[in-house]
Amino acid sequence: MSAQTRDKSKLRSRLWFDNPDNPGMTALYLERYLNYGLTREELQSGKPIIGIAQTGSDLSPCNRHHLELAQRVREGIRAAGGVAMEFPVHPIQETGKRPTASLDRNLAYLGLVEVLYGYPLDGVVLTTGCDKTTPACLMAAATVNIPAIVLSGGPMLNGWFRGERTGSGTIVWKARELLAEGKIDYEKFIELVSSSAPSVGHCNTMGTASTMNSLAEALGMSLPGCAAIPAPYRERGQIAYETGKRIVEMVWEDLKPSDILTREAFENAIVVNSAIGGSTNAPIHINAIARHIGVPLTVEDWERVGHKVPLLVNLQPAGKYLGEEYHRAGGVPAVINELMKHGLIHENALTVNGKTIGENCRGREAEDRDVIRTFDNALMQDAGFIVLKGNLFDSAIMKTSVISKEFRDRYLSNPDDPDAFEGRAIVFDGPEDYHKRIDDPALGIDEHCILFMRGAGPIGYPGAAEVVNMQAPDYLLKKGITSLPCVGDGRQSGTSGSPSILNASPEAAAGGGLALVRTGDRVRIDLRKGRADILISDEELAARRAELEKNGGYPYPPSQTPWQEIQRSMVDQLSEGMVLKPAVKYQKVSQT
Ligand code: FES
Ligand code: MG
Repeated sequence: MSAQTRDKSKLRSRLWFDNPDNPGMTALYLERYLNYGLTREELQSGKPIIGIAQTGSDLSPCNRHHLELAQRVREGIRAAGGVAMEFPVHPIQETGKRPTASLDRNLAYLGLVEVLYGYPLDGVVLTTGCDKTTPACLMAAATVNIPAIVLSGGPMLNGWFRGERTGSGTIVWKARELLAEGKIDYEKFIELVSSSAPSVGHCNTMGTASTMNSLAEALGMSLPGCAAIPAPYRERGQIAYETGKRIVEMVWEDLKPSDILTREAFENAIVVNSAIGGSTNAPIHINAIARHIGVPLTVEDWERVGHKVPLLVNLQPAGKYLGEEYHRAGGVPAVINELMKHGLIHENALTVNGKTIGENCRGREAEDRDVIRTFDNALMQDAGFIVLKGNLFDSAIMKTSVISKEFRDRYLSNPDDPDAFEGRAIVFDGPEDYHKRIDDPALGIDEHCILFMRGAGPIGYPGAAEVVNMQAPDYLLKKGITSLPCVGDGRQSGTSGSPSILNASPEAAAGGGLALVRTGDRVRIDLRKGRADILISDEELAARRAELEKNGGYPYPPSQTPWQEIQRSMVDQLSEGMVLKPAVKYQKVSQT
């Protein structure tokens, strides 16, 4: 839009700072924002006021460098004729918050909605990075629907230990095995894990952070290439500046989240998630964003749209490399360019730079073909999630890109093969129960067992714990059996390579079938048919349900904080995005 057509009277911030109909309120709104040196000219001459939603702090090391990047964002905003106003977002540090950081996603969402709605902001830069900061910001931008643009913080530099890449999160699973097997001691354990975090930035693996930032870009909500630039690289500061410049133009163009976050954009995100080997947390967060912008999207869409897509990105935990190689190979635009060659992307989906995703990504050939593969040389075919259901739950998902080749060949690849996985259930009620009993020889766990984790969903363990991927008992580890199939109503870390069936909905605490399974039950998991069932009669199942209800339902521990209680009283299930149910009806609130 040319400068001549810029209509200052349309700016939201005019209502606060230049409203002749209400001089009293205007003066009150204005005087306090003058008190640190802003001039009346800056606030009253029709410059867009741009919020910088700051997710970095000392409590949030993954996002902490946004405190410095914000300076470049401000310079970009200023250069484009806007005024920057930075403000804090409730911190969410994946590795710091007890009982789990995902409890705070909806709290940060609520807080950000109030800020975006209630203050004189014409547009906002969303600083994202660590796992839940990205969905929290996008959910709030979706609800309020003012022009918004994502600035990722970028991943840390690659971790190295004795000449090998150590990926954040992923190394913890490996180091735990080494510790359990007695191959390293506690000192070496800490040293090994710390080697994976050599700089500022978020996890350098394709965990939930790199996934969600890649998907924010695939949705069209960040500038092309933004997701993958490592946090300390010069390009990170440069794109912070460009992002600041661009949001001012977006305000003049009135380019809002509802113009970008369409059904097509969400399907693009699902396809990209399969190709990057993205986290199992993605369906929860992406479905939540869709609900807040009002686009229908179900957990079944993840299999329907995403399962047939091959794995193209060779990053840990599904592959070999880390964030620096991902960026050098071309990042998200190179992945989308590959997918476009096979007609898998809705190329007309609009993005924050005013161009379509097709225009942004066409011809962005990958610079390293071992890191970002072609379809002919994909790391795996059919790499998207599959969705299961049965008498255990209405839906649960499985990340097929981390299943071993043997397991895949036997239970998944040939659609005509009747073979399904059957095993004996070992049931744990929450992570504490698991830690207490996993090594108990009385359980008799062997390689024919399936481990169950329940009481770990949004209500049972407020926020839903990342605990479904359970390690086998020490005595099996020592025999070289490192993973058993796991099923649960909680989540799994995006950095885990475990082939678990997770996000089961409804959870045990909401009356799901997991509440009825008992240790010793035979359980059948048919990946080809998408079924997961306890092998007991309908009568026995009904009797167990009647007993559960007589006892007042599946028990879970009391809340420890007010927010835990509030969230538990109104949270939806993982398949529905774990959103706050009463929040969903509030859409486009900036127009109200
Ligand atoms: Fe923050 Fe992984 S812990 S991104
Ligand atoms: Mg995590």
